[in-house]
Amino acid sequence: LRRPTLNPVERRLGAALTIGDLRAVAVRTTPRAVFDYVDGAADAELTARRSRAAFAAVELVPEYLSPVDHPDLSTRLFGREIAMPLIFAPTGYTRMMHHEGEAAVARVAARHGLPYALSTVGTSTVEDVAAAAPGGEHWFQLYLTRNERLNAELLDRALAAGFTTVVLTVDTPVAGRHPKDMRNGLTIPPSLTLRTLFGMARYPSWALNKLTTAPITFASLSGMGGGVSGVSGDTIDAVRVADVVFEPTLSYEHLAWLRAHWPYRLLVKGVLSPRDARRVVEGGADGVIVSNHGGRQLDRTPATLTVLPGIREELGPDATVILDSGVTHGQDILAARALGADAVMIGRAYLYGLMAGGERGVERAVTILREEYARSLQLLGLKASDAIARHHLRMP
Ligand code: FNR
Repeated sequence: LRRPTLNPVERRLGAALTIGDLRAVAVRTTPRAVFDYVDGAADAELTARRSRAAFAAVELVPEYLSPVDHPDLSTRLFGREIAMPLIFAPTGYTRMMHHEGEAAVARVAARHGLPYALSTVGTSTVEDVAAAAPGGEHWFQLYLTRNERLNAELLDRALAAGFTTVVLTVDTPVAGRHPKDMRNGLTIPPSLTLRTLFGMARYPSWALNKLTTAPITFASLSGMGGGVSGVSGDTIDAVRVADVVFEPTLSYEHLAWLRAHWPYRLLVKGVLSPRDARRVVEGGADGVIVSNHGGRQLDRTPATLTVLPGIREELGPDATVILDSGVTHGQDILAARALGADAVMIGRAYLYGLMAGGERGVERAVTILREEYARSLQLLGLKASDAIARHHLRMP
């Protein structure tokens, strides 16, 4: 007999069947300004909508009478096996969404045999993440600062903590313009104002979590322990004015510097054209992440799914090509694979889970995507992730 679940978090998460359901829970559990920061995008949010619409427009063409019992979801990335073609994208300020933050996400990723990418503006250090999820595959997303010594120090620490891959994000010379955040008066990190206090009263479970588990109480609302992952103290204030400190004139010279300083795998994130893809691989990157930053940077950039085939064609079969922006369903993973991606990254999909219920919510998000993906493979008549091919998909 199943015992009724009284814990409201468990009940809400158990009832969530789609990423959209998790998003609906997150709206109710998280202060508006925080939810909007995650959910929103740049300017008129055209790119964010376009990215999702491109996935929705895809048609899948099944092949029947080829029964599949348990499809093999695994795939190889850089010659190593991962459990399915899914990676956790880097997201900044993750402890603002839920106090369990990056550690929770990294633990879920490790449990599922999937890589996790920690952001430079994460709220946990590389050492925190390594300790929280030993045995997990950890990547470090790098925003280069103008301070070369600091850049080198970040890389050294990521290396010492066992991180395998550096992701250089190139689409953020300045922060995108987010009207919702401006209207909400959001500051990063959030400051304690009447509005935030009001928010705490309206979202008691979110606030209670913070007050009971983070001894710094109000500081957890205002300070968030933010700053560059892995660096603390005086660098934090500098990073709060991120536009000033992060290198706004990133160039191929920086890529060459990074290639010389980072001995392992190097990916460039934010590539949207075959030309850029070719140049960064020639500049020493092992591959690219085709991304429009979830529509959060330059609005009116193309949907990633539509530029993916040209980029794969330009780079050939050997380079690693990962896609993100707008992935909310297992079939989106399938579509990206069919059009040439080795794997996809998710950002908001797991953040909705995190906001809805911390680590258990992230777990729910991955379970939903994995089940959708596995079932869709079976319905298509495919035995394995690696069996997905271009002819299983039509783009009308
Ligand atoms: C991001 N993203 C991001 N990317 C990055 O390189 N460094 C960062 O610090 C952040 N921070 C960040 C915060 C939040 C709240 C979001 C939603 C996203 C972009 C992220 O890595 C990824 O490219 C997008 O999230 C992909 O789009 P979806 O999956 O959110 O639609």
